[in-house]
Amino acid sequence: MALERTLSIIKPDAVAKNVIGEIYSRFEKGGLKVVASKMKHLSRKEAEGFYAVHRERPFFNALVEFMISGPVMIQVLEGEGAIAKNRELMGATNPKDAAAGTIRADFADSIDANAVHGSDAPETAAVEIAYFFASTEIFSR
Ligand code: PPS
Repeated sequence: MALERTLSIIKPDAVAKNVIGEIYSRFEKGGLKVVASKMKHLSRKEAEGFYAVHRERPFFNALVEFMISGPVMIQVLEGEGAIAKNRELMGATNPKDAAAGTIRADFADSIDANAVHGSDAPETAAVEIAYFFASTEIFSR
C-alpha cells in the first residue's frame, strides 16, 4: 500500500465534547501519524469554499452553519493507505449506520453533527490539504 496523506477535521461538536485527544489516540493507534495540525474558527467564506463541491445539496447551508458554530481542529494524517484507513476509523457518515468502535459511533450525535471529516480520495485529499496548509507547515518523517 502507498504512503498517503489525508485531511482530517475534528468538527465543532467533538471539539466541544473535549475529545480531541481521544480522537488523536485513535489515529495513532490506527497507524496514522499527525504531520500537521491547527485549531481554527472557520469563517463562513472558508467553510463555503471548503464544501463548495456540495453547494447544490439541500444540506449545504446547515453544514456551513454547523462548521462555523465553534472551533475545529484540522490535521494532516500520514500513513499507508491513510485515506481509507481514516475513513474506516471515522465510520459511516450517519452515526446511526457507523460500526461499533468507530469515531462517529462513539462521539457523533447526528448526521449534521458527525464529529469528523476525512478526505475521500487522493485528488480531494491534495486539494483539501492545500486549502488549509502550506507545504512548510507539514512535517513528515
Ligand atoms: S461523505 O462523507 O462525503 O461521503 O458523505 P456525503 O453524503 O457526500 O456528505 C458530504 C458532507 O455533507 C455532510 N452531510 C450532511 N450535513 C448536514 N446534514 C445532512 N443531512 C448531511 N448529509 C451529509 C457529511 O457529513 C459530509 O461532510 P464531511 O465534512 O465531508 O464529512
